[in-house]
Order: sequence, then structure tokens, then C-alpha cells
Amino acid sequence: MINKPMQDAMNEQINKEMFSSYLYLSMAAYFEDKNLRGFANWMRIQADEEREHAMKFYDFILERGGHVQLKAVEAPKTEWGSNLEVVEEVAAHEAMVTASINDLYELAMKEKDYPSQIMLQWFITEQVEEESSVAQIVADLKLIEERGTAVLMLDKQLGKRTSG
Ligand SMILES: [Fe+2]
Ligand SMILES: [Fe+2]
Repeated sequence: MINKPMQDAMNEQINKEMFSSYLYLSMAAYFEDKNLRGFANWMRIQADEEREHAMKFYDFILERGGHVQLKAVEAPKTEWGSNLEVVEEVAAHEAMVTASINDLYELAMKEKDYPSQIMLQWFITEQVEEESSVAQIVADLKLIEERGTAVLMLDKQLGKRTSG
């Protein structure tokens, strides 16, 4: 059975993942407003993935005989200054989530909670991928400096993302 400190920390993580989902959905709406359907598609899929992350913690807590406790999800921002500002915020947010996953792993080690350690390894790998994929978009956007044609090309590329 999952112990109380681990359960509480994972319930906090559910909230962080749900907030990530909400934030990315808000970013998708921002891009929809600007008619950047590809960027919006990418953010929407990202939002779906964050909800799946929340559900992984949700199911894991239940599987280990714990109690799921959902908390209020903070309202996300709705306005950004530029496309680059949005993706830079995604990068910063993902770095924060990585730190939070690392903290969970440290707690699992301290508590000698081996099942949690194994479960969290999936998230550690996932965060490497998340940080790397968003870093690529930040780099692309910096390179093209909001030049219309290039932004449209990147938008087309991001529109091709189907999942993962
Ligand atoms: Fe996540
Ligand atoms: Fe993420």
C-alpha cells in the first residue's frame, strides 16, 4: 500500500499535470485566435498528454490502495506577447515539472517505495522527451524571427502532429 507522504505528493502532482493540461489548452486557444491551426493542434495534443499524465498518477494511487484527492485547478493565462513567448513559457513550465518529478523520485527513494520508483522512471524519460521537443520549437521560432512565410511553414509542420 502507498504511504501517506507519497500519496500526498502524488495528489499534488495530479494537480500540476491538470494545470499543465489547462495551460496548454489555453495556449491552443491563443493560437486558434491567431489562425495558427498547426501550433494550436500541437498544443491541444500536448494538453491531452498532460491529462493522461494526471491519470497515470490517479490510477497508480488507486492501484496501491491509496486515496485520490483532487484540488482546485488554477486559471491559466490567456494572453501572450508573441508565439515565441508562448513556447518559451512551455519550456520553462516543463523544466518546473521535471524538477517536481525529480522531487517525487527522491521522496520514493527516501521512503524506500520501490514500486513508485519504477513508475516514476517512465516520467523521468518522458520529461527528457518533452523538454527536447519543445526546445526544438523554441530554436526554430528564434531562427525564423516571426517572419510570416517561415511561421506558416512551421505551423504546417506542427499541424501534422497526431500524438506523442
Ligand atoms: Fe506531464
Ligand atoms: Fe509535459
